[in-house]
Amino acid sequence: MSDHVTTHQAAEDARNESILIWLNGKIVPKAQALVSVYDSGFMLGDGVWEGLRLYDGNWAFHDEHLDRLFEAAKAIDLDIEMTRDQVFQALLDTQSANSMTTDAHARLMITRGIKTRPFQHPSLSQQGPTVTIIMEHSAPKIPRPIRLATVPHIRGLPMTQDPKLNSHSKLNCILACIAAQKSGADEALMLDVHGFVNTTNACNFFIVRKSAVWTSTGDYCMNGITRQKVIDLCRANDIPVFERNFSLVDTYGADEAFLTGTFGAQTPVGEIDGRIIGQGKIGPVTNRLRQLYKALVA
Ligand SMILES: Cc1ncc(COP(=O)(O)O)c(C=O)c1O
Repeated sequence: MSDHVTTHQAAEDARNESILIWLNGKIVPKAQALVSVYDSGFMLGDGVWEGLRLYDGNWAFHDEHLDRLFEAAKAIDLDIEMTRDQVFQALLDTQSANSMTTDAHARLMITRGIKTRPFQHPSLSQQGPTVTIIMEHSAPKIPRPIRLATVPHIRGLPMTQDPKLNSHSKLNCILACIAAQKSGADEALMLDVHGFVNTTNACNFFIVRKSAVWTSTGDYCMNGITRQKVIDLCRANDIPVFERNFSLVDTYGADEAFLTGTFGAQTPVGEIDGRIIGQGKIGPVTNRLRQLYKALVA
């Protein structure tokens, strides 16, 4: 289908052809920012990452992002070999090298590094981690509300590959996204192991019913920083908010639905499985939360 949109669509920006990339302590032109085919991230998806956004000179919620990064690295037993301050300084150095002041997006990626042989065992990564920061000029440009489709791929139990891990390997989410696209939608709405509505392949998911905001319990989905900010904003502004189990029946009948993520903040959902949600466009509660979030990052 030609009119697909994605939740991470940004305005074309020619400056991104000549950005500088942070790669293992050096800032190099994009064309020279290359990692080995022996890198465990390339070979096995063995790494963790964070996406951060720059608004008016500030990396929004960078403490929370660094907390989550270091927690994920500890969980997969990956030694970043840098302190939190050094990682944040690398982000600032990349920003400064690229003369970026606002509307930039950083993807901070850390893998277990180069392996001595092309096999899985983590002990084969002996040269320390590969640390990279891709920072692009990025103004989200999502031309219409997102269309979602439910897919057979579910959010798994934490003992398989904990869905809270921002791991390099995103194959489950990618397969979900492909299935949604093949059915004519933009992205995938994923259920949990019990069949409750959980999240999408790349963002957290919310519905609004009778002016109350509902999202999943938080089990099985990414512990999204934007998700938590939206919940906190609801609580601080007397908007009823519930982290609860709910089904597709509740979802199709919702007045509004929206997604949250660092890139797009709050993105309206217009259609799910061919059902128009509410008026099919951004609703008043989503709009209000967008304004509150804008004020918060400012
Ligand atoms: C699967 C998934 N859900 C949700 C999110 C949104 O999280 P955040 O709000 O922290 O960007 C992400 C972003 O990394 C993600 O990969």
